[in-house]
Amino acid sequence: MGQEKVRVPDLARMKAQQHRITMLTAYDYAFARIFDHAGIDLILVGDSLATAVRGEDTTLAVTVDEVIYHTRAVVRGRTRALVVADMPFLSYQVCAEDALRNAGKLIKEGCAEAVKLEGGVALAETVRRIAAIDIPVMGHIGLTPQSVHRMGGHRVQGRKTGHRAGCRERLIEDALAIEAAGAFAIVIEGVPPSLAREITQRLSIPTIGIGAGPDCDGQVLVMHDMLGLSESFRPRFVKPFANLWREVSAATEAYIREVREGVFPGPDHCYAEARGN
Ligand code: KIV
Repeated sequence: MGQEKVRVPDLARMKAQQHRITMLTAYDYAFARIFDHAGIDLILVGDSLATAVRGEDTTLAVTVDEVIYHTRAVVRGRTRALVVADMPFLSYQVCAEDALRNAGKLIKEGCAEAVKLEGGVALAETVRRIAAIDIPVMGHIGLTPQSVHRMGGHRVQGRKTGHRAGCRERLIEDALAIEAAGAFAIVIEGVPPSLAREITQRLSIPTIGIGAGPDCDGQVLVMHDMLGLSESFRPRFVKPFANLWREVSAATEAYIREVREGVFPGPDHCYAEARGN
């Protein structure tokens, strides 16, 4: 798609042209700049900031104001990528008025260009209301981390057939309902590849997979997983494209050693004395 700014309508074009969509999470200015410069299409300011940035077990405690804070930093770091802000738990489930106000805040105060929310059939009317005031909405179905307690943990969904929550046919209904409600794209998380493939074929909006196999229209990873920032957390669907745990550990150990041994700061790292004194 070149170096032009990515905008919401571009995603439909990318699906039509079978141009795979790339998305990463980011939570700050520095990484947003790097990802944008490298050519990422979308940056998601995910509520995964709870787990990835703050070390919490679930995403449930994140607030709208926290997402706004991180989104503003990310927006300042990007020139090309489309920035999507996650709607936190309880910011859209209670009533449509909450959902509209909070989606609006993420656009108005966070400067996001779109919002993402989790859920299927039951959330379709909420998606419709937000989309109706011209706030682009991205859906998210499958392993939806805000449903962690119903799912009994972060568990793969869609393996069982049937119409109960998390079952295969129900997830297809969820995806179709979110599309019909006006979402411009949908994240499919933690489902078998055959289910993600079927949903991708049946929808006209792009699907973006995470732990959903290769046949979605695009892929997303949490940046900490993609960069190998943890020495131990490695779910099956993650491929670390770097080992920043090792790199950052080595740099930190070198810094500690040089400070202790009086090697750093050396002459090159000192300001010149005032001239003419
Ligand atoms: O919060 C997040 O990072 C997400 C992605 C995993 C899709 O929702």
